[in-house]
Amino acid sequence: MSVQIHKYDVVIVGAGLAGLAAARELQRAGKKVAVLTKLHPLRSHSGAAQGGVNAALSEDDDIELHMFDTVKGSDYLADQDAVELMCSKAPETIRWIANAGAAFSRNEDGTIAQRPFGGQSKPRACYAKDRTGLTLLQTIYEQADRENVTFFDEWYVADIIYEDGVVKGVVAYNIRDLEPAIFNAKAVMFATGGYARAFKISSNAHANTGDGLSIVARHGLPLEDMEFVQFHPTGLAGSGILISEAARGEGGRLYNSLGERFMEKYAPEKMELAPRDVVSRAITKEILEGRGVGPNKDAVAIDLTHLGEKIIMERLPELRDLAITFLGQDMIKEPIHIAATAHYSMGGIPVDIDGHVKKNPNEIVRGFYAAGECACVSVHGANRLGANSLLEALFFGRHVGKHIIEDLESNKLELCDAKESDADRMLNEIKFCMNNNGTESVPKLRSELQESMTANAGVFRTEETLLKQRKILKELRERYKNIRIDDKSKIFNTDLQEAIEFGHMLDYATFIVEGAIARKESRGAHYREDYTKRDDENFLKHTFATMNEDGSINIEYGDVKLGKFEPQERTY
Ligand code: FUM
Repeated sequence: MSVQIHKYDVVIVGAGLAGLAAARELQRAGKKVAVLTKLHPLRSHSGAAQGGVNAALSEDDDIELHMFDTVKGSDYLADQDAVELMCSKAPETIRWIANAGAAFSRNEDGTIAQRPFGGQSKPRACYAKDRTGLTLLQTIYEQADRENVTFFDEWYVADIIYEDGVVKGVVAYNIRDLEPAIFNAKAVMFATGGYARAFKISSNAHANTGDGLSIVARHGLPLEDMEFVQFHPTGLAGSGILISEAARGEGGRLYNSLGERFMEKYAPEKMELAPRDVVSRAITKEILEGRGVGPNKDAVAIDLTHLGEKIIMERLPELRDLAITFLGQDMIKEPIHIAATAHYSMGGIPVDIDGHVKKNPNEIVRGFYAAGECACVSVHGANRLGANSLLEALFFGRHVGKHIIEDLESNKLELCDAKESDADRMLNEIKFCMNNNGTESVPKLRSELQESMTANAGVFRTEETLLKQRKILKELRERYKNIRIDDKSKIFNTDLQEAIEFGHMLDYATFIVEGAIARKESRGAHYREDYTKRDDENFLKHTFATMNEDGSINIEYGDVKLGKFEPQERTY
């Protein structure tokens, strides 16, 4: 099969906020940019973030407080130089995107409205009703389109071309007709998003299968801090569909089946506005101890009725619709049922502060960059604060774009020729999925992965559950060799795509579980019932894990960049 070779200055994979912000900067600077995305850009998952984007804008807030809240929220695992950069640039980032046309909700005096979010000392989340991510995504897409960025929508990137320490491009196919192509480039940037689809109860879209991370890991490159998966406290009961933290920010109260406002026990000062890891554990504990509500007793209630129809319709209209559509519960009239849902990946592809992908804690890969949720810079450490992810994606997307321009203009990057055979690995993967004539069904294997990850590597973990999950993953890997897909056509073959994606899910799930087994402490979102304390002496460290050919994982640790905020006990 002949493989077309396209040539660009920069190829960006993923068209969420980070990818689009970088693409716009690069194209504006006269670089030839291609954005490859498996969805239409406006369907990217950045659009699903509802509640807000942080910046210390108001007179009684300040950047240092935003930094402190972020570092404390991260359970002191965040790199403080990156936190300082992001928080100090947050006000400018908001002004930039507002000037570009993002329609933020406003106060009477015309200033941008801000609401409280968990773990923050001040109301800091700038919002557009409960559609903040979508508003930002539309704005930045318009801006990138206006600069004439070239989009390859519905193209699936299956591999990178990585030789001699240099990334030379990506290998992809057109989902429409399976046409393969190589995109040869001086620089490749991954902005491929998160991976919470490895869990059964998840706020993530079907597409969030962590492909970018596994593609990187399959080349022997490390992934960082993968054991830190964020469980958002408020997903709709049964499905996990996101009910924004804005619901608690606007005053939502959590109740168990006994009618107790149970956060009094877990975070007496901050109550419902404690950070996500704390609230998720509290909700899950109430349910596990038999104080859940609903037909399956697998949820707790969030009550917003006291806000009244006017405020709900003005500030939370999308959330109201979601609860009516999926649960038949109208938050204006009654409490709605929620439980913790897998939401965000704090870990990812290790990058330095300017987005260069790291080969190991001290060396970078030439020509390779990452930003947004797929990257670990690390501004979130062990637990991200709500509304810091839109900020991270917008700010670092743009920042990394500017650094790629600098690297291009100082001649640090050149086009290293790619050859047709660079596509062999992808073509073999496609051939395997199309022709393998086994007995296992991918959707069945996927359900088993998702159910077992939620049960064994979820909000609460122990050595026993994690070892059980290690064994399940090993078995699933074996069974994956025996799959069969039904659709053998070339046109929009979603069976094929899901089979490839499932391979990726198996790989990065292994990193999550192995990182969690090795980290014998509790920190942020990683809670070990058998090691309930944070252990700074042994684990104030980033995990750097690599995968061997047989799927086994090696773990090393790297230093955390500490700064002015000394680790303290974390209470709320
Ligand atoms: O709860 C939310 O609105 C989600 C925002 C975020 O994850 O930052």
